[in-house]
Amino acid sequence: MKASRVDSGVDRVRVRELKRAEDARFRDARPRSAALLERGRRVMPNGVPMAWMVGSYHHLPLWVASGEGARFTDVDGHMYRDFNIADLSMFCGYAPEPVVRAVSDRVARGNQFMLPVEDAIVVSEELARRYGLRKWQYTSSATHANTEAIRVARVATGREKVVMFDGKYHGHFDEALVELDETGEVVIEERGVPGDTVAGTVLVPFNDPAALARALEGRDIAVVLTEPAITNNIGLLLPDAGFHDEL
Ligand SMILES: Cc1ncc(COP(=O)(O)O)c(C=O)c1O
Repeated sequence: MKASRVDSGVDRVRVRELKRAEDARFRDARPRSAALLERGRRVMPNGVPMAWMVGSYHHLPLWVASGEGARFTDVDGHMYRDFNIADLSMFCGYAPEPVVRAVSDRVARGNQFMLPVEDAIVVSEELARRYGLRKWQYTSSATHANTEAIRVARVATGREKVVMFDGKYHGHFDEALVELDETGEVVIEERGVPGDTVAGTVLVPFNDPAALARALEGRDIAVVLTEPAITNNIGLLLPDAGFHDEL
C-alpha cells in the first residue's frame, strides 16, 4: 500500500490502520459492554441513560460494574485507573467508606420527605465554617443551582442579562447553551433552545479584563458566572494572576 505522508512525517494511512485495529481489539475485549449497549438501545436514545455518554468518547461506552477510590471495573472485568473521576464530581473517589456509611444510614431511615431533617443543619453549619458564607440552600444539580443563582441576581439587580466566559460549561439550561461562532457572534449551542436566548447571554473571553469591562459598561448585567479555573468544555484554563480581583 502506498503510504501517504505529510510534512510532519506522520504516515496517516498507517495511523488509521492502527486506530481501526485498536478499536476492534477494544471492542472484542468488551462483549458484555457491547451487548448492554444493544439492549439499552431498545429503551433509551443512543442506548444510554444520558445521550452524551455515547458522544463523549471515541469508543464503545464502557458499562461500569463498580468503583473504589480512583479505580473502577467494567462489566467485562477490566479495571481502570480513573484520572478524571467523573469530571471531578466524584472528588472523594468512588464509594468512600464514610460516605457509603452516611448515605446508607440515611436511606435506610427514609431519604425524602419534602420536609427538612437535622442533617441539613449539620451540613450547612460545616459549609458556613469552611467557606465563610452564612446561609445555604440546596439543589440536586449544578444546572439547577446556577439557574436559581441567576434568578436571585435578577431580583437583586432588576437586570436580566448574564455574562459567562467563552468555553464555559455551567449546565444544561437555556442561558448557558450558547457559544461564540467563528465570527464572535453568540449563537445557540443546541437545538430546542429558543432563538431569543442569545440576546440574554453575553460571552466574554476568560482572562480578558478589557472585554469584561466592555460587557459591563451598559450596566444591564445581573450576574457574571465564573469558575476559579474554566474547566470542562475546553480542558482546563487557569486564571491569569489578578484576573479574579479585576472581576
Ligand atoms: C463547572 C460546571 N458547572 C455546572 C455543571 C453542571 O452540573 P450538573 O450536571 O450537576 O447540572 C458542570 C458539570 O459538569 C460543571 O462542570
